[in-house]
Amino acid sequence: MKEKIVFQHLFQILQKYFDSQQDGAFLDYHGSKELRDLLQLDARSNPGDWQEIFQWIDKYLTYSVKTAHPSFVNRMWSGANLPSLAGELVTAFSNSSSCTFESAPVSTLMEKYMIQQMLDLVGFSSGEGQMTTGSSNANMIGMMAARNAENDSVKQGGLFGQEKLFAFVSADAHYSMDKAANVLGIGLDQLIKIPLNRFGEMDVAQLEKGIAGVVAVGGKPFFVGLTAGTTIRGAYDSIVDCLALRDKYNFWLHVDGAWGGAVVLSQKLRTKYLRGIEQVDSFTFDFHKMLGAALMCNVFLINKRMHTLGNVLAGGDTSYIFHDESGNDVEDLGAVSLQCGRRIDSLKWFLDWKFYGRSGLAARVEKYLDLCTYAEQLIAGTPELELIVPRTSFNVCFCYKTEKNKSNTLNRALRQHLYKKGISLVGVASIKERVVLRLLIAHPDFTEKDIDTYFSDLVHVGNLLLREMER
Ligand SMILES: Cc1ncc(COP(=O)(O)O)c(C=O)c1O
Repeated sequence: MKEKIVFQHLFQILQKYFDSQQDGAFLDYHGSKELRDLLQLDARSNPGDWQEIFQWIDKYLTYSVKTAHPSFVNRMWSGANLPSLAGELVTAFSNSSSCTFESAPVSTLMEKYMIQQMLDLVGFSSGEGQMTTGSSNANMIGMMAARNAENDSVKQGGLFGQEKLFAFVSADAHYSMDKAANVLGIGLDQLIKIPLNRFGEMDVAQLEKGIAGVVAVGGKPFFVGLTAGTTIRGAYDSIVDCLALRDKYNFWLHVDGAWGGAVVLSQKLRTKYLRGIEQVDSFTFDFHKMLGAALMCNVFLINKRMHTLGNVLAGGDTSYIFHDESGNDVEDLGAVSLQCGRRIDSLKWFLDWKFYGRSGLAARVEKYLDLCTYAEQLIAGTPELELIVPRTSFNVCFCYKTEKNKSNTLNRALRQHLYKKGISLVGVASIKERVVLRLLIAHPDFTEKDIDTYFSDLVHVGNLLLREMER
C-alpha cells in the first residue's frame, strides 16, 4: 500500500468504527488467555507491510471496549467529544511537545488562553495554572505546593529535622492522595483520613478535632484536600466550612474536582455544590471526565495566595531548553510542569470550548444530573432494586435487592455476567462492606430510554441468577 493512501484507508476504518460504536454489544468479551490466542501478538511480522498494520488495527478495534456505547456506565468518561477527537488527531499528526513556545507556539498560547478562561470562571483573580497529566498528578502538585508554602526550605533542604507535616482528606478521597503523600515524603501515617457524615462528605467537626489533635502534639497541619464529587458516592465536601477552619489553622486548602468539579460551569450547580471555590488555594478538574474531552485533559489552578507554580516546580539547570532569545513575551509551560516533554492537550480542549461553549457544557452537566434523578426514581419504583446510600449528585450507588447474606455474591456475579455477555459494564465498589453497583452517566447522547434499557437488562439477568442461586 502506498503511504499516500494509508490515511485514506485509515479514515475509512475510523469512520466505520465511529458510526457503529453505539450499536450491537459494547464488547466482544474474551478472557485474557483466549484473547492472547486471538491476538497472536508474537506472530511473525512482515516489516513494511501496511496490510498487516491494518490487520492489527482491525483486531484492536474488534476486541476493544466501545466506550461510547450506552451500556458502558462504568467509568467517569464515555466516548469523546468530536471536536476534541479532531484535535487529538491533529496533534498526533503534527507531533510536538508543549514544553516550549519555540517548539509548540500555538499550543502554548492556547493552553495559556484556556487557563485564563478557567481562572476567570473559577474566580481566582490573580491565579495561574497548567494542564497536567490528570487529577492524580494535579492533587500531588497541590500537596507539593502546600508543603513548600508551609516551609520554603523544603525544596532545598528536604524534609529533615522538621516538625511533622500532616495532610487531611476525607475517608473517601481518591487514592491519588495516598500516592502524593508517599511521593512527597509526607508518609502515609501523616495522611489523616477524616470520617464521613451520612451523605459521604468529610465531617468537618471531625476534621477540626483531627487538626487540633495534631497541633496539640506539635505537628503541623499543612494541607486539607477536599473532594468535589467523591469517586464512589459523588459527595461534595463543604468548602465554606473549611474556609473558616483555614482562617484558624492556616493550612493550604485544595479541592479535587476531578469528577464533580465540572459543575463549576453551571451557575446553578456551582452555587449548590461549590460555594466558596473562588477562595481555595488550588483546584483541579478533568475535562476528560464529565465534560467529554478525549483522554487526558486536566486543568490544575492555583490561587496565588501563598505560593506560585514557579516557586514549587521550577528547578535544575534548564538552560539547554528554556531560554528566551526570541524576544517573545511567553513563558515556557514546561518550566513549571513535573515532566519535561508535555503531551499537547490544549488543542482538543480549546476546540471543545469553542464548539460547545460554557453554556453548552453547563447544559450537559445539568442534564446528567437530571438523568441521575430519573435513575434514582426508577430504582425506587423497582422492587428488585435498592439504592444503597442517599444520592447527593452524579453517582447512583445501588444493588440488586436480595437477602443480606446473598447480596454481595449475587451483585458481583451479576456485574460479571453482564460484562462477559457484552450486555453492560457498571462500576463496583464497597460501602460499609456492602457491594454496590455504581452507575455513572457521562455521555451526552445518553437518554432516559438508555436508563430504562440498562436497568431492565440488569433486573432480567438478576432474576435469572437469583433463581439459579436458590436452586
Ligand atoms: C475524585 C477523584 N480524584 C482524582 C482522580 C484521578 O483522576 P485522573 O484519572 O485524572 O488522574 C479520580 C479518578 O477517578 C477521582 O475520582
